[in-house]
Amino acid sequence: MIKMFNLKNKTVIITGGAGLLGNAFSKACVEYGANIVIVDIDEKKGNELREQIKKETKNNNIIIFQKCDITNIGDIQKLIEITLTKFKRIDALVNNVYPRNKNYGRRFEDVTYEDFCENVNMHLGGYFLITKEVSKIMIKQKSGNIINVASIYGFSAPRFEIYKGTDMTMPVEYAAIKGGIINLTRYLASYLGKYNIRVNAISPGGVFNDQPESFVKKYSEKVILEKRMANTEDLIGTLLFLLSDASKYITGQNIAVDGGWSL
Ligand SMILES: NC(=O)c1ccc[n+]([C@@H]2O[C@H](COP(=O)([O-])OP(=O)(O)OC[C@H]3O[C@@H](n4cnc5c(N)ncnc54)[C@H](O)[C@@H]3O)[C@@H](O)[C@H]2O)c1
Repeated sequence: MIKMFNLKNKTVIITGGAGLLGNAFSKACVEYGANIVIVDIDEKKGNELREQIKKETKNNNIIIFQKCDITNIGDIQKLIEITLTKFKRIDALVNNVYPRNKNYGRRFEDVTYEDFCENVNMHLGGYFLITKEVSKIMIKQKSGNIINVASIYGFSAPRFEIYKGTDMTMPVEYAAIKGGIINLTRYLASYLGKYNIRVNAISPGGVFNDQPESFVKKYSEKVILEKRMANTEDLIGTLLFLLSDASKYITGQNIAVDGGWSL
């Protein structure tokens, strides 16, 4: 049974690997035996994480950091080339990046058409682009596993009162992007299934990251389990489940990991 969750000898690409969730995802994959390619535009953070994991792990897994902008086809092709040279195959792609332009995070009335389009292009378009390129390899291999990190805001509506008194909001682009990612997951699961490629999504609830106290309090009131925000540890089990053979008969699903917030 334990073996079911083992990722030994699997090559996993984790995009946005240097970020909040990416950190935890990268460490968990290594702990469960995977060789990983941490992908990020932040070279400093990516290299630091690689060194940190190497120091902490007792496993002999190979850990690579590759600087790559997932909206840039040249960068993606280079990433694939480097991964194949090193590992000969790509078993899994975790789409976890969080691209945003400089105006991201404004309230609905203040979002321009240009900013809306640019953010959708970068985030939803970026997920499409890297998935398209990596799936070409998976199609040749006749196997693969793609996990898209979506959000509770991809399938449920925000309650704007929780942002009152802070400079935070839930950006309109985010709802469109994450909703798009959830249905892209279903589309790709259906399209790529014949090549033995599974595609699933994880929709985390809000993850605690030192947000303003009033927001944390109001958000937490709606959470059923433990009345608290998520932490990165809460997401690991679902990621490992979807990456491993324990879920080998599951595709096209979106698993909400939100303590019941969206019920
Ligand atoms: N943090 C939350 O509360 C939360 C909740 C639900 C869903 N999510 C989703 O989880 C994922 C990770 O979020 P996070 O909170 O860890 O974000 P984060 O900002 O901490 O990390 C995202 C990483 O992506 C990298 N990145 C941005 N644009 C890139 C690009 N074009 N190419 C390559 N790398 C790029 C950044 O450098 C950063 O390291 C996102 O898809 C986000 O929407 C987060």
